Amino acid sequence: MNDLDDLDAVDPLAHVRELFDLDDDVVYLDGNSLGAPPKAVAERMRDVVRRQWGRRLIRGWSEGWWEAPQRVGDRIGRLVGAAPGQVVVGDSTSVNIFKALMAAVRGTDRTEIVVDAGTFPTDGYIARSVAELTGLELRPASPDALEPTERTAVVLLNHVDYRTGRMLDMAAVTERVHAVGAKAVWDLCHSAGVLPIELDALGVDLAVGCSYKFLNGGPGAPAFLYVPTAAQASFEQPLTGWTGHRAPFAMEDDYIPDPGVARARCGTPDILSMLALDAALDVWDHVSLADVRAKGLKLTDHFRSLVRDLPGIEVITPADEWRGHQVSLRHADAEAVMGKLIARDVIGDHRPPDVLRFGFAPLYNRYSDARRAAEALAEIL
Ligand SMILES: Cc1ncc(COP(=O)(O)O)c(C=O)c1O
Repeated sequence: MNDLDDLDAVDPLAHVRELFDLDDDVVYLDGNSLGAPPKAVAERMRDVVRRQWGRRLIRGWSEGWWEAPQRVGDRIGRLVGAAPGQVVVGDSTSVNIFKALMAAVRGTDRTEIVVDAGTFPTDGYIARSVAELTGLELRPASPDALEPTERTAVVLLNHVDYRTGRMLDMAAVTERVHAVGAKAVWDLCHSAGVLPIELDALGVDLAVGCSYKFLNGGPGAPAFLYVPTAAQASFEQPLTGWTGHRAPFAMEDDYIPDPGVARARCGTPDILSMLALDAALDVWDHVSLADVRAKGLKLTDHFRSLVRDLPGIEVITPADEWRGHQVSLRHADAEAVMGKLIARDVIGDHRPPDVLRFGFAPLYNRYSDARRAAEALAEIL
């Protein structure tokens, strides 16, 4: 197992860990739930609170705050294959799923919404609500049997499954959905910032994602919404708040949406969280996504090979490259086992009823983390 420590010595991303505020005694494998804090965030927040808010006061809105949702959106756009002017940051993923689905079905004469049957609950709940509000039918379907038809208005999918870590073939699935004239909306929560994604090149209709996992924006950091340029004129979202208006400060009676991606905004942006995320994204100035993906595959491969034969363990994350950067293990006592791991400062998480999740964030996780986690798990089992 010590060979793994040797891999840390030659890891081209090893220096990036220094940019994070992490405790060396803790093996943190939950960056797929809440990313670790980059050091730059604390320094930036001091400036934001003391100088920008404290000294500049309301002038801050005309000194960068107002445009922050689009500016930070463009920075995320670079990580998901979206050219500038197509990503806006704000609200939660759940709220953005609602905006996206409502906009996708508006005016349609099609009759169904298809959602991944094993989706993260919020996606399923919001899809059901949209179906009820619009009178469409909701059809949950396995990603292997989506079977979209001429009746399908939109398909909502997770790029990487939160429970198993399986990754869908975004190109093939989007093409299949488009072949019947339906729209594809992708939830990128578990892939933004770790997997190469090509939203523009694949002609994805709409996409959403959070920024508190692999993008390290912090607890409750705002989500993002991708609306490609060609679709913006017809993107009529239901939350017609004043900040999506074409002239917010004209205080007009009628709602006329901004011509661009700002029409996806709703109310006053959460500037403190937004600027914490902005600082967190500076880490990307030092790394390439290709390196991140390569290291993520290696870390998860090594961890998997160390734990797959442990007693009572079944690995449920695919072994091939169709997976994200987590390893999910089924074990009958998953909750108790994770409790014992956390007591030893090996932090992953548990999803009921029987799944242990270990998320590997290539920006700060080391090969020695995989070794230490596997050793602790072996001792416990
Ligand atoms: C796939 C997916 N979608 C959505 C969410 C959460 O949405 P929100 O940011 O609105 O809480 C999560 C949270 O873990 C998730 O894994």
